[in-house]
Order: sequence, then C-alpha cells, then structure tokens
Amino acid sequence: MSDKNLVIALTKGRILDEVLPLLEQAGIVPAEDIFKSRKLIFACNLPHVQLMVIRGSDVPTYVELGSADIGIAGKDMIMEYGSRGFYEPLDLEIAGCRLMSAAPIGAKLDSPRLRVASKFVNVAKNYFYEQGRQVDIIKLSGALELAPFMGLCDCIVDVVDTGNTLRANGLEPRDHIADVSTRVIVNRASMKIKHDLVQSLLQRLQQAVTANKKTSTAS
Ligand code: ATP
Ligand code: PRP
Repeated sequence: MSDKNLVIALTKGRILDEVLPLLEQAGIVPAEDIFKSRKLIFACNLPHVQLMVIRGSDVPTYVELGSADIGIAGKDMIMEYGSRGFYEPLDLEIAGCRLMSAAPIGAKLDSPRLRVASKFVNVAKNYFYEQGRQVDIIKLSGALELAPFMGLCDCIVDVVDTGNTLRANGLEPRDHIADVSTRVIVNRASMKIKHDLVQSLLQRLQQAVTANKKTSTAS
C-alpha cells in the first residue's frame, strides 16, 4: 500500500447494491459498471482510490492484514471474525437485519446439549456459552433454514430481516443475539499513516448517511 493510495474492500451481494449510491454521494464512482464485470478490483474517478469487491467474510481479513485500508462489511461478518485488529468508526445504517437463533415452531429446546447449525460459528458458540448452554456447533455455508427440518440440528443462528425465510421453512425466531448493519472498518496503520485521506472519506460518508436519513424521515 502506498501512503497516497486508498484501497477499499467492498462486500459483494446485497451490501454492494446499497453502498455504491453512498460512495457516489461521497464522491467515489467506479470507472466501469461493477455488476457487468468479472474483475475483482476497480479503478474509480479518484485516481488514488481502488475498490475491491469480495465476500463479506473476507473483508475483515484484508483490512486487518493491511491489504485493504478500508473495508465495508456487515456487523455479522465483523462479529464472526472476532478481532479487534481494526477500527470500526462508522455505521452506514444500510442492510439492516438481526442475528437471531431460530427453531422449529413450538419446539422445546430442552436437551442438555443443543445442536446448533450456523455459518456464524463463533457468534453462536459465544452466545450459547454466555447463556450457560452446552452446544455442538455445526458449520454450514448457507440455506441454514433447511437444517432443522432435515434433522441436522435443533436450532440455527442466522441473520433475519422480514422473517419470511424462517416462516417459509417452519421456523420461528427465538433469541435476538445482535442488531446488524453495514459498518466501515479501517486498518490501524492506515488510520495513522493515511489519516487525512481516511478522515476525509469517513466525513463524506457520514454526510451521505445523514443526508439519506433526513430524506427518508421527510418522505
Ligand atoms: P457470502 O456471499 O459470503 O456467502 P451472504 O450470502 O450472506 O455472504 P449477502 O446475502 O449478500 O451475502 O449478505 C451480505 C450482508 O448483508 C450480510 O453480511 C448481512 O450483513 C446483510 N444481510 C444478509 N441478509 C440480509 C437480509 N435478509 N436483509 C438485510 N441484510 C442482510
Ligand atoms: C439471508 C439470510 C436469510 C434471509 C433472511 O439470505 O441468510 O436466509 O436472508 O431474510 P428474511 O428474514 O427477510 O427472509 P440471502 O437471501 O442473503 O441468501 P443466502 O444467505 O442463502 O445467500
């Protein structure tokens, strides 16, 4: 990383849809249509800024290890990564949802050892440990809502927004583990060495978040 360049790691998928307009409001526009390209790194209108597009679960790794200066990822991914190796200065207040446990409707979770399936294995382990529950954690990568129905587990830990996916699969929300939204994270060294570049971007993003909030309360 050169001292004068900024590498921003973006989460692909639903966060990307919502974050590109915010970046544009903050003065950062990719040089080409990210959605039409197979590239993973993009130049933009500001010659010193590059945008990487990767999975949310990899964003904290790139930022902590310094290959990206700034990352944009869901709080769920940041909690799962579990490190304090970067700063988390800004909540972009987009892609809001909740990390929850969920179980088949009416199921009694009273066995002495719960089988919990999740892609958030650290979040699940820590949560049930704090509750004093003995658990076996089963790592899955997606379609978690199928797992209890197939007898793989007693309950799951996943993100929930409308609750439609849970309902459609005969599950009900149980414990609310954490609120999730999209956060900006910053490499510790970049925060010092590239202070002005980083602060100026954070300020512009904060202004965009505030402006959007005003528009949505007005309408
Ligand atoms: P990966 O691509 O690594 O498998 P994913 O499929 O969970 O991850 P997305 O579904 O695009 O990726 O979600 C990206 C982020 O958006 C999540 O980390 C979370 O913060 C947020 N998110 C996930 N599901 C929802 C939802 N239903 N509503 C709102 N935000 C969500
Ligand atoms: C996410 C999440 C849930 C669903 C919750 O899935 O894994 O399955 O959204 O949203 P809801 O409460 O509004 O139904 P996504 O659509 O991103 O698919 P994937 O995780 O399987 O890729």
